[in-house]
Amino acid sequence: MSLPGGRLEGAALNLVRRFASDGECLAVDCNPDGFSGSRWSRYAGNGCDASSWPATRELHSAGLLKLNKARDANLYALEALNSCLVPDAPIVLFGANDEGIKSVRQLGAVDFSVVDSLGHGRLLRGVRKPGACGRPEDFLKHCEVLLPVAGARRWASYPGCFAQGGVDPGTLLLLQSLDCVGAVPDRVLDFACGTGVIAADVLDRWPRADVEGCDYDAVAIAAARVNVPRGRFVVGDGLSCVSSGAFDLVVSNPPFHDGKVRSHRVWMNFVAEVRERLRPNGELRLVVQREVPVEGPLRDAFSKVERVIATPRFGVWSAIR
Ligand SMILES: C[S@@+](CC[C@H](N)C(=O)[O-])C[C@H]1O[C@@H](n2cnc3c(N)ncnc32)[C@H](O)[C@@H]1O
Repeated sequence: MSLPGGRLEGAALNLVRRFASDGECLAVDCNPDGFSGSRWSRYAGNGCDASSWPATRELHSAGLLKLNKARDANLYALEALNSCLVPDAPIVLFGANDEGIKSVRQLGAVDFSVVDSLGHGRLLRGVRKPGACGRPEDFLKHCEVLLPVAGARRWASYPGCFAQGGVDPGTLLLLQSLDCVGAVPDRVLDFACGTGVIAADVLDRWPRADVEGCDYDAVAIAAARVNVPRGRFVVGDGLSCVSSGAFDLVVSNPPFHDGKVRSHRVWMNFVAEVRERLRPNGELRLVVQREVPVEGPLRDAFSKVERVIATPRFGVWSAIR
């Protein structure tokens, strides 16, 4: 089925205004009432279930894709969209100027041209090339990370994962601080676990612990499952997806962004809610950049709060229930 250009671009505009978040895509068909199709996002929240790759086996006649601020994630998203499209399907890509849409001419095998300027953004149009589209495993990349207990380890990640799948300096500091955790924990949560760096080190230290990790990025969770086969990993926004019951230890390098904007929403909600997920005397360990005002919210929620490491860039905090 071919779609009149104007209608497809109109649908894209509607999508921008109503619910698109970074890297989200829609594979659609035109019908008398408008468009029907399936929506895919790697990120949970925003009313969308997240998955690491679209589950649909049905092929649609056109695609809409919202540019991701993480540039290396755009090709992954385009191929995810391609996997839901017929050959030669038109694809509309849209994004804001400050997300880099102005410099996009080509993504993978698709050439894009500008069809509309939206004030602060642009709509581009291209055509899905015939031929096989990529698969998620084509994007899996490996590097070596150095963890405090295990030393060098081969590490898997996908485009768009935090720290390009490496070990962030704040995360490393948090791991070093685990040397002084008092009792051996039975049950540990790695909140906003990314590719599973903290979960891996926790299992290296306490091999008998039951370790769960959560993140809103289903693609990062797919990498964590490769890296830490003994961990249990769940996808969801905030603590909503974490299994029931209390934890002895919760560890986190929490996010300071909500989508593309710097935001306190996720870590503040986490600090306010996590106390209820700890056993009595259970501990929260988190690392934050020095300028993040975490001490007040921690003291509001916990009676015993201490900064266990301070460097010019980061603070590692301990809060005991
Ligand atoms: C600073 S990174 C830390 C990643 C990992 N723990 C590490 O240390 O390498 C923060 C993580 O928070 C995740 N994140 C962002 N918003 C989230 C949300 N609303 N709920 C859960 N996780 C979120 C991101 O996907 C990212 O993996």
